[in-house]
Amino acid sequence: MSGRGAEKRVALVKGDGVGPEVIDGALAVLEAAGADLEFVPVELGYGQWKKTGKAMAEEDLDLVKTCHCVLFGAITTPPDPDYKSVLLTLRKGLDLYANIRPFRTADLDFVIVRENTEGMYSGVEKLDEEEATTLRVITLRGSLRIAEKACAIASKREKLTIVHKSNVLKSDNLFLRICRETAHRWDVPFEDMLVDAAAYNLVINPKRFDVIVTTNLFGDILSDEAAGVIGGLGLCPSANLGEKYALFEPIHGSAPDIAGRGIANPIGAIRSAAMMLEWFGEVGKARMMEEAVEWTLAQKVATPDLGGSCSTREVAEAISKRLAWSD
Ligand code: NAI
Ligand code: MG
Repeated sequence: MSGRGAEKRVALVKGDGVGPEVIDGALAVLEAAGADLEFVPVELGYGQWKKTGKAMAEEDLDLVKTCHCVLFGAITTPPDPDYKSVLLTLRKGLDLYANIRPFRTADLDFVIVRENTEGMYSGVEKLDEEEATTLRVITLRGSLRIAEKACAIASKREKLTIVHKSNVLKSDNLFLRICRETAHRWDVPFEDMLVDAAAYNLVINPKRFDVIVTTNLFGDILSDEAAGVIGGLGLCPSANLGEKYALFEPIHGSAPDIAGRGIANPIGAIRSAAMMLEWFGEVGKARMMEEAVEWTLAQKVATPDLGGSCSTREVAEAISKRLAWSD
């Protein structure tokens, strides 16, 4: 814990593309909510790679570890065959094993709990001329801790859906067994579903889901699908949680197609910042931020991805003003 003071120290990784635009929106709203945070800027990503040849240096992880958590925009993947993913390095380096992705609209409300450190993204890979392999590593420890996290969330809600492909993948037999045992132990109502059926049901009848727990790659894909179902990537936040550290980020990437135009939707980043306040124990302020987001959406103050004509800044300002009224 050396270097981590009593105050709430947040490593601020704005990143590339729309990253800085949406994070500036989130910072404005955090200020309007009266959040008392110390920010430590950390430059990572494509911009840094262009300057130094490295998207993330060894010392960067040490600096991040002097903070309690990370607020992260998005990073453009550098065109470098030796590039090591910054986000995967942070997730592994800080052991952020649980990726919590809530999806909420006026009539939908479900959460995807994605295992974040192993599975298809274990990094055990080989690329040869004639053959390429990626090892899908599922461990008892990894399955147990994500199942525990999902059950803790489901125990305060309605039910758990374990999503897997155990009819084909041996590795998912282990994942499914551990999730079932954990759900029994927690006494939460649960079902299980094959991932292809889950992908279908998410489109056809998303209301049937409450808490979904799944492995890394399935969670990655299903959460972008879920974002489409609720109205867009720009709306969706996430929390990457470990035992000690956490990282909060919108689920979208750096959106180079719209970067620099001031029209990126800041709501995913603002909701991520609200999840950060909740993690710090500031539940009241987090709720107020979420309420202000919902009010602003209901007023149709929206960026072009939602069919509106407002800028990133105008949306963030509307949310901030709403917070000032509700004081
Ligand atoms: P993307 O998520 O950046 O964009 C996909 C589509 O959604 C684009 O049409 C974009 O304009 C739109 N979009 C994304 N965020 C938006 C927002 N806030 N408001 C309005 N529209 C938004 O995914 P893409 O294009 O596949 O990747 C772009 C870059 O981002 C790549 O270099 C990729 O590797 C990186 N990436 C980074 C992530 C991260 O840092 N967490 C996650 C995903 C991709
Ligand atoms: Mg993704």
